[in-house]
Amino acid sequence: MLSLDPPDHTRLRKLVSRGFLYKFIQSLEPRIQVIVDGCFDKVGREPGFDVIDCLAKPLPVIVIAEMMGLPDSDHKQFETWSEVIIDRTGTSDPAIHKAADQASRSLIQYFQRIIESKRGNPDDDLIGQLILAEEGGDKLSSYELYSTCMLLLIAGHETTTRLIGNGLVSLLQRPGLAEKLRANPGAIPNAIEEMLRFEPPVQSTERFAKQDMEFHGHQFRRGDRIILSIAAANRDPEANEVPEEFDPFRENIRQVSFGYGIHLCLGASLARLEAKIAFESLIQRFPEMSLADKEPAWGTNPFFRGLDRLPVNLRDR
Ligand code: HEM
Repeated sequence: MLSLDPPDHTRLRKLVSRGFLYKFIQSLEPRIQVIVDGCFDKVGREPGFDVIDCLAKPLPVIVIAEMMGLPDSDHKQFETWSEVIIDRTGTSDPAIHKAADQASRSLIQYFQRIIESKRGNPDDDLIGQLILAEEGGDKLSSYELYSTCMLLLIAGHETTTRLIGNGLVSLLQRPGLAEKLRANPGAIPNAIEEMLRFEPPVQSTERFAKQDMEFHGHQFRRGDRIILSIAAANRDPEANEVPEEFDPFRENIRQVSFGYGIHLCLGASLARLEAKIAFESLIQRFPEMSLADKEPAWGTNPFFRGLDRLPVNLRDR
């Protein structure tokens, strides 16, 4: 879907969008809260925990796997495959590309098996809806079915994991902000927009020029690959005043972290909802939470910005 133009993109997006209707996504709130509480229940009392390992990674995987109707026992395997697959972006190291190709093949074979087992009696989940669309005519080819499942699984969690980690580090690095949000939890959705703006999980996207063109004095030839920096756009002083400042109470936040135009992220409402519940719970449940390492190490992938570990010290209420 990501790399298609209309009319194929329009057809595929319309089919998949049915599973992401705003009202349906909002109805997932109670279940997402249960998952978040379950993540915290596994956390030991003292002295702290790694937010990436205990919450930011498992939460989005559990949510998207449940939406797709995939078994709980496979969650760890999804994390491993998708980490290997996205490691490919931003490196030309042949060993990493080979491992990513192998992981992609394994994931496609996995979906082939799942889809075959669901055929004939598809459940009312995302994969079931896509199977019905595929069987209902030539609207969806088998290749589109497998690649859409892969996209949803990978896009559905790698990014939200980073939003939770990047947002929490931005918040905890600045004394007093978490307390202000705890006193005013209604501002959490706005704070999440600022987290998205300030440390976008997806740093850039790409397009290919369809014809020779000029843009702001730059010449492009047909077929040129153009890298568009989301991170730079979010810190454009013409879009937001004092863009280098992280301010969860900033008004009229302008950010393009979910992209722009026809490929605007299909999972934006889901990501926002998961992040809202995660931050509400973190802030209320652990009022004295602080970073164990004030400057945690960022991953090196130039396209996906995130932390491999985010240890915090805390005291439970
Ligand atoms: C914080 C979390 C997320 C971020 C920052 C994010 C970011 C993005 C961006 C930047 C794009 C557009 C890429 C482009 O134009 O080249 C995109 C597209 C997409 N995202 Fe997300 N995403 C997030 C969460 C999700 C989730 C939770 C799902 C699904 C469960 C999802 C599914 C998709 C899909 C299917 C597309 C392709 C849409 C199309 O091509 O029409 N994303 N996302």
